[in-house]
Amino acid sequence: MSPLRQLKILFVTPEIIPMVKTGGVADVSSALPQKLQELGHQVRIVIPKYGIIDEKKHKIHEVSRLKDIPVKIGEKEVLYSIRSSFLKGYKERIQIYLIDNDEYFAKRKSLYADPLTNEPYQDNDERFILFTHAVFELITKLKWIPDVIHCNDWQCGLIPAYLKTKFNQFEELSQIKTLFTIHNLGDQGEFSVESFNNTGLSENLLNDKHLLHNGKINFMKTGLMFSDRISTVSENYAQEICSDELFGAGLHKVLLQRKDDIFGIINGIDDRLWNPEKDNMIIKNYSIKNISDKRENKKHLLEKFGIEFKENIPVIGMISKLTDFKGFDLVQECFEKIMALDPVLIILGTGEKKYHNFFENAVSKFSDKFGCYLGYDEELAHLIEAGADMFLMPSRFEPCGLNQMYSLVYGTIPIVRNTGGLADTVRNYNGDDNGNGFVFKKYCCNEMYKEIERAVEIFKNDQKSWQKLIKNGMKSNFNWLDSSKNYIELYKELLN
Ligand code: GLC
Repeated sequence: MSPLRQLKILFVTPEIIPMVKTGGVADVSSALPQKLQELGHQVRIVIPKYGIIDEKKHKIHEVSRLKDIPVKIGEKEVLYSIRSSFLKGYKERIQIYLIDNDEYFAKRKSLYADPLTNEPYQDNDERFILFTHAVFELITKLKWIPDVIHCNDWQCGLIPAYLKTKFNQFEELSQIKTLFTIHNLGDQGEFSVESFNNTGLSENLLNDKHLLHNGKINFMKTGLMFSDRISTVSENYAQEICSDELFGAGLHKVLLQRKDDIFGIINGIDDRLWNPEKDNMIIKNYSIKNISDKRENKKHLLEKFGIEFKENIPVIGMISKLTDFKGFDLVQECFEKIMALDPVLIILGTGEKKYHNFFENAVSKFSDKFGCYLGYDEELAHLIEAGADMFLMPSRFEPCGLNQMYSLVYGTIPIVRNTGGLADTVRNYNGDDNGNGFVFKKYCCNEMYKEIERAVEIFKNDQKSWQKLIKNGMKSNFNWLDSSKNYIELYKELLN
């Protein structure tokens, strides 16, 4: 294949900013396609049209030839439409298609789980089976045949299976290749065996080699089994999941089997959105030349939580899903010890009920130094990155992690566990010139605590070193250019 040939990429994803976000996949799904397009390739994006997506704001409109398309999901006759909108892009805008159905998407208050019970919606299988059908309908109706379908996370797991077993008989589709990217192995889309009947796939796929895993239909596994290549979002995490059973979240054998096809490409950050010099969601812009202006953001952040501002008291920020995966068992275990160090701790996120309960109680107990917002708010996320002095990410697993990169460029010193993408981006401070954060190895409360204690100590008593750390972080370059070139290499290799 000529190196200059323009590629056609259909980027299929469960989330995208600015329309809808619960996790980092949304940031990647916006930034990467834009870079690919900037580098001269044709990209189109497909997402579900969830009820919470604002139609007016995002100028979502109907496409008459993509309206009221019938599909059978098991015994049910379902009608759906494919609607259209655009993502801004660097030079040109990028086409986004939104899969719309009232029952499955528009009427739901949330993306994957009932907000009242936190339980996954019972019919998530049907919802994402419909989504999969729609992807192929779109390709055939528009006759825009991609070279590669780039699938992201379990919601897209059936796409490679459909392509290889249902659509391979169509000459024009048979050349399409698939890349499946893992952002989160923790959620795999598991359903009872009966759910197989809804897929419309051939009976002989109902076995352990294809869709079944531990007696359940597993969408993530299906994606891993059928895609031509697999990627994940840092090199270190790619190695971890291929070498250590613990990281495979039950899919270790499948990952081992596909070891040679798994690649790690580190995420970048969108520096038009995450740049303290230009960020319009923070109260005062700043740069490496006037770091002291960062203080205004700290003041504003504390004001929001009704906590008094004190120059020499560090603010530790956390923005995360509140789950064991992200290390919240450690935070809970040594919460009182952390509070006794006398920092301010501010948490933003949602997740497991036990953590919601824990932090709600903690607010009443430590209202002068602990604040939390149990929801998602992009503006607050920016303010925390700009206003905090430190940022805590004690993850048990971390495919890439974006917030430690945002923190670094915002001069907010990360305290992280040495795992996944955190290990690829944060260098432990040893009193030398090189460090940009604090890193602990063993997943245990004491080790995490020691690094928090060390950070607080340096912040309070050694501002010279602290300022050096800030500068080292702010000099980082995490733009998407190199990573998107790596994706292009991978797509090309697939096509050869
Ligand atoms: C998921 C991962 C996170 C990664 C993000 C984007 O949220 O947990 O580590 O940065 O996806 O790839």
